[in-house]
Amino acid sequence: MKKVAVLVGSLRSDSINRKLAEVLARLAQHRLEFDIVDLSDVPLYNEDLWKNVPEAISELKRRLAEADGVLFVSPEYNRSFTAVLKNAIDWGSRPYGQNVFSGKPGAVVGTSPGAIGSAVGQSQLRTVLAAIHVVTMGQPEVYLSWKDDMFDGDLNVVNESTKAFLDNWAAHFARWIERMAPEA
Ligand code: FNR
Repeated sequence: MKKVAVLVGSLRSDSINRKLAEVLARLAQHRLEFDIVDLSDVPLYNEDLWKNVPEAISELKRRLAEADGVLFVSPEYNRSFTAVLKNAIDWGSRPYGQNVFSGKPGAVVGTSPGAIGSAVGQSQLRTVLAAIHVVTMGQPEVYLSWKDDMFDGDLNVVNESTKAFLDNWAAHFARWIERMAPEA
């Protein structure tokens, strides 16, 4: 089964974006293995640290390198994606010539309590992903306007049409990874 590294742009213990990542992992579980990478120990990018690489960076790069694809799940902060996610992307893209993202298929999703469900942040993220040569799935998009009763305590999707929508996304993403993953 193909493996997907998941980068979540929120460190909050009760993050709605983390919940979305976990829901998608469940919906995709028969097609893809999701590896949600903990970014809480990743230091702010500092070129000097390559002299003595922190464990969190080696781990991040290893898990990204092992993955067949990458899923980016981020809140929108002030009409962009978060600094936590940008920082992880910057680490993964360096040292120069050792960009672990290059050529990997990926996708962007996100949720926000706001009406546009992180759409502007996702748009900015897609621009960055082009620069690091992630082959990003164009459609379907997930701009999820968060409601507290959307998922139950076991992260099942309560509403049938929301479940069908997210299921359809998971099926498309699995096909995207199968088609676009670089040869092992
Ligand atoms: C936000 N939030 C927000 N929401 C939105 O839809 N558009 C925005 O531009 C912003 N801007 C923003 C900036 C900052 C600094 C914070 C802390 C929050 C609200 C945000 O969507 C909400 O806090 C989510 O719950 C964050 O996602 P997680 O952490 O729950 O995954």
